[in-house]
Amino acid sequence: EETVVRRDRFAGGPARSFLSSLSDDERIFPADLAVDRAHVVMLTERGIVDRDTAGEILSALAEIESAGHAALPDGEDVHEAIESAVIDRVGPEGGKMHTARSRNDEVAACIRYRLREDLLELLSAVVGAREQLLAVARDHDETVMPGYTHLQPAQPTTVAHWVLSYEQALQRDTGRLLDAYARVNQNPLGAAAFAGTPFDVDRDRTAALLGFEGVVENSMDAASARDFLVEVTGAVAGLATTLSQLAEDIVVMASKDHVELDDDYASTSSIMPQKKNPDTLELVRGRTGDAVAGLNGLLTNLKGQPRAYNRDLQRAGRHAWDAIDSVTESVEVAAGAVATAEWPADRLEAAATEGFATATGVADLLAMAGVPFRTAHEIVAEAAAGLDPDEDAPDYDAIAAVAEDVLDAPLSEYVDRTAVESALDPTESVGMRDSRGGPAPSAIAGQLSTA
Ligand code: ARG
Repeated sequence: EETVVRRDRFAGGPARSFLSSLSDDERIFPADLAVDRAHVVMLTERGIVDRDTAGEILSALAEIESAGHAALPDGEDVHEAIESAVIDRVGPEGGKMHTARSRNDEVAACIRYRLREDLLELLSAVVGAREQLLAVARDHDETVMPGYTHLQPAQPTTVAHWVLSYEQALQRDTGRLLDAYARVNQNPLGAAAFAGTPFDVDRDRTAALLGFEGVVENSMDAASARDFLVEVTGAVAGLATTLSQLAEDIVVMASKDHVELDDDYASTSSIMPQKKNPDTLELVRGRTGDAVAGLNGLLTNLKGQPRAYNRDLQRAGRHAWDAIDSVTESVEVAAGAVATAEWPADRLEAAATEGFATATGVADLLAMAGVPFRTAHEIVAEAAAGLDPDEDAPDYDAIAAVAEDVLDAPLSEYVDRTAVESALDPTESVGMRDSRGGPAPSAIAGQLSTA
């Protein structure tokens, strides 16, 4: 009877579909069934619901599960629809399922339960991506390429060094996702609407049944808190930023023919037959933008909400879901594009000397021979000045002429011709930079073994 009265009064009228989250809730349908089961088992163990009724409710839940989300009766949300479906099967006794709880603690539990699964899926994608990047690093520890600052040629490095810079960023992204996971994995059930319940519920028991590590203690906090969503979406947006930078690097490399993408990760133009475009990476850049937008959307949703529950919260979860879905796919596509790409060693090595990119190495060489680094810097800068960086590179003689002037002694008193010539060679230049974390193959070996 009460159900009928309630449904009649609050059917929603013209705002019915505006109020309803039923179709969005498909994502938490299995979670809601798990939460219902755990709650019913706990209520039975506490003697709040009798075993026979509990048995009937659990059987009804099993039927509802096999019928699927699409077969649910109408409802304002998945929680109400499942409850109606239970009552349809069991009769009014089925309504005992909702003893000592509210949709407020229920939905919070469902979101946390489902989010764990999504996080684990994302984490395994990230770990898979890291393994693919490590394989590229192992294959290309001697593949010299130009490194840039300000998008201008700066110093030679290697493909391995570049790719490991992303693998290490992804290590930290992994850590942030795992940190967030620990705070997602807490049980809000038993908070009821926010003010607890007179029933003698066992919150640790529902936590254990649902695999939560602990309980969100304060019941007002348990029903209201969505900062776990902020943390997850924040970690996801951070990961998205790493991926977007990786994607941007490849787009730039592709524009200079410094990388050849596999056809599976490229696209062509419908009009320009000669084109092979890095569209997948541009979409990674675009979709990871959705994650950043999601973080913004979520914070905007939450920041004006007073305690305790407000219906705005119904719109909070979607930001996290959208962000996590976009980024999970992006991780896989970005890593696949890198793993299947070809790195044209000859072109990359030639490009590594452009813009006198080995200049720092020559200055380092002079400094190692006792010339103050600032003086060495000036000598090399002056030798390079006036040269057309596209045409000529300063050679030993050019540097020696300036050095003799500045040092008041022949350059050969400090360094010999072969040493300068090797510093000017991009492969030798990389090999010399063997400091911890550097690009020399010996330093890469250390980074690979740590990874
Ligand atoms: N569907 C709602 C949500 O996702 C839960 C329902 C709580 N409704 C309420 N009027 N207290 O947040």
